[in-house]
Amino acid sequence: MEIRPLRPTEIPRFVELSYYAFNGRSPDNRSTDFERRLDLEHQVLVLADGSEIISQVAIYTFDYWFNGVPFPAGGLANVATVPERARQGHANQLLRATIAWMREQLGVSISTLYPTIYPLYHQLGWEVAEEAYRLVGVPNAFRPSQLLPADPGGRVVRRVAEITDVERLEPIYRAFAEPRSGYLVRPRWYWEDMVLRHSLATQPRHLALWYGSNGQLGGYALYSTEQLPERRIQIYELLALRPEGYHALLTFFAAHHLYKELELTGGRDVAWLAMIADPHQLTITQRVRGHFLLRIVDFPQAISRRPARLLNPCAEITLAVSDSVAPWNDGVWKISQNSGCWTCEPVSKSEPDAEVDIGAASALFAGALSVRQAIDLGRLSAKVTALPTLEALFATTYPPHSNDHF
Ligand SMILES: CC(C)(COP(=O)(O)OP(=O)(O)OC[C@H]1O[C@@H](n2cnc3c(N)ncnc32)[C@H](O)[C@@H]1OP(=O)(O)O)[C@@H](O)C(=O)NCCC(=O)NCCS
Repeated sequence: MEIRPLRPTEIPRFVELSYYAFNGRSPDNRSTDFERRLDLEHQVLVLADGSEIISQVAIYTFDYWFNGVPFPAGGLANVATVPERARQGHANQLLRATIAWMREQLGVSISTLYPTIYPLYHQLGWEVAEEAYRLVGVPNAFRPSQLLPADPGGRVVRRVAEITDVERLEPIYRAFAEPRSGYLVRPRWYWEDMVLRHSLATQPRHLALWYGSNGQLGGYALYSTEQLPERRIQIYELLALRPEGYHALLTFFAAHHLYKELELTGGRDVAWLAMIADPHQLTITQRVRGHFLLRIVDFPQAISRRPARLLNPCAEITLAVSDSVAPWNDGVWKISQNSGCWTCEPVSKSEPDAEVDIGAASALFAGALSVRQAIDLGRLSAKVTALPTLEALFATTYPPHSNDHF
């Protein structure tokens, strides 16, 4: 058995296993993806028994926004083991090696994924990093609140989304995503394949563009309509840079009275319920399967990329991190602020100011757990004097959310 990069001649076998495991995109599409999306030598690993592929993983190298800073990430996809060799620890072994590979070969600070099997990843340190929910109701239930500012001179333009819309939408998306946490810095191929022309969708995606009275594009919604078995609208992404944009787009969707149902997936980073006239008319379900998971790959890098708010200088602390899967993270770290950044250096200290496991540190990093919640869970312990520094270190402006899935 060996773990190594996929060889070019093995692409058909990788594609066959991905298609067998996940169905979805055709084998031809999957083969084309390799050239567009992945550098074979660095971004596709297999656990092989001689010439036979037993387990496989693809690693997309992306950046993700966290609180105004892009963090280099390894996004895992196509994780699969041949069913005839399942439950023998092969995926676990490959994922362990992948964590080391992402640090040594790709230099990323974090890893992200959208799991089918939560325990597989959770036992290796990935943690839930969002709280997404679905708002479902008749279109009229999405009427905006009267308290939401409106721009009577604005207009909504509706049409089928085109690939060339990347240039139009990307600046709006970026301005929206940058101060938030968990949003992907979408490369062009991602916009084309996954956002504008979703590879699994049978219908084209529709686009509603909101222009304010100043003539500037200030928000948009990407959605699809289904006619059978019942008429429904699914909104994949609705975002605006000003409240007037939300007012206009919600009014637009509320007008679809011949549709039986409208579904909007959103995160807690947007105050959806406060924007709607009567949220009691909606059914709200929490999405749990396939939600966004995050793991810190390189602890000192993940910490030292975080911006420090200099108006609020904090005391230096020592933090012990336990990480049995990634031993380079395991140890005691001196954390302090320097010239607008956090610094993180290894120290040998027998009695640290705080202790945390890597999973909890990952959830804290994302903003999915607060310092107090991590303490309540028994996964962070801290001297009272270390709390202000920990709170400042892990502060995020918005709760984390990911609008993407791969
Ligand atoms: C999920 C999959 C990759 C697991 O591969 P594997 O080599 O069998 O996994 P491992 O033997 O390393 O399992 C490690 C741990 O993950 C968890 N796990 C693995 N498969 C599981 C399953 N089907 N149900 C629940 N837990 C599972 C268990 O905790 C397991 O430890 P255990 O066997 O000691 O209980 C494989 O079943 C597969 O290819 N499935 C189809 C594609 C897929 O869902 N991929 C994951 C995409 S995110």
